[in-house]
Amino acid sequence: QNGFTVAIDGPAAAGKGTISKAVAAHFGFAHLDTGLLYRAVGAKVLAGKDATEAAQTLIVEDLEDDSLRTSEVAQAASKVAVIADVRAALLDFQRSFAARLGGAVLDGRDIGTVICPEAAVKLFVTASAEVRAQRRFAELSGKGHADTFEQVLADVQARDARDADRVEAPMRPAQDAILIDTSELSIEQAVAEAITAVQAKR
Ligand code: C5P
Repeated sequence: QNGFTVAIDGPAAAGKGTISKAVAAHFGFAHLDTGLLYRAVGAKVLAGKDATEAAQTLIVEDLEDDSLRTSEVAQAASKVAVIADVRAALLDFQRSFAARLGGAVLDGRDIGTVICPEAAVKLFVTASAEVRAQRRFAELSGKGHADTFEQVLADVQARDARDADRVEAPMRPAQDAILIDTSELSIEQAVAEAITAVQAKR
């Protein structure tokens, strides 16, 4: 790993995506949302493909599909994410991205623990399940989706459990990760905390 890597992990809807984009923009780093890799594989499985084969043949264009954002694809993603061969197939792409000169932000579940254990900065961004479900619910309602709050909360909890309890690269903070709980923070406050943490290691 030659580049300056920022690893940002945490559960769904804790604010990882927003924080990662803001940190990348602030420092001029490249950004990879690694969840998209698992979502793209999940979408292919929903379309009838074999998970491991889908992961081994994934191309960058597969990550640009708007339909990857649905909760159906999110659940499918967390199911393929327990498969060791799927994770292995996606490893090199993520590590090469992290090694970019000029710096890179990668966000996901296992960036600080497995993908980039030598990352210069590791953040673990969390919030209570209720707060995260509330945010996801507001986002989905805004887009005209009919899911109830209870459905969204159940979805978030099912995905948390699958991600945290799996044997292969379970979601957990790296030992040297800085925790940011966004439950009671505004987006601006959360972003400011993350930027301060990265600045301190530059
Ligand atoms: O972050 P996002 O919600 O897009 O991730 C979708 C799913 O992909 C997660 O629930 C998780 O199961 C899986 N994932 C993973 N490791 C990562 C990123 C995502 O297992 N680094």
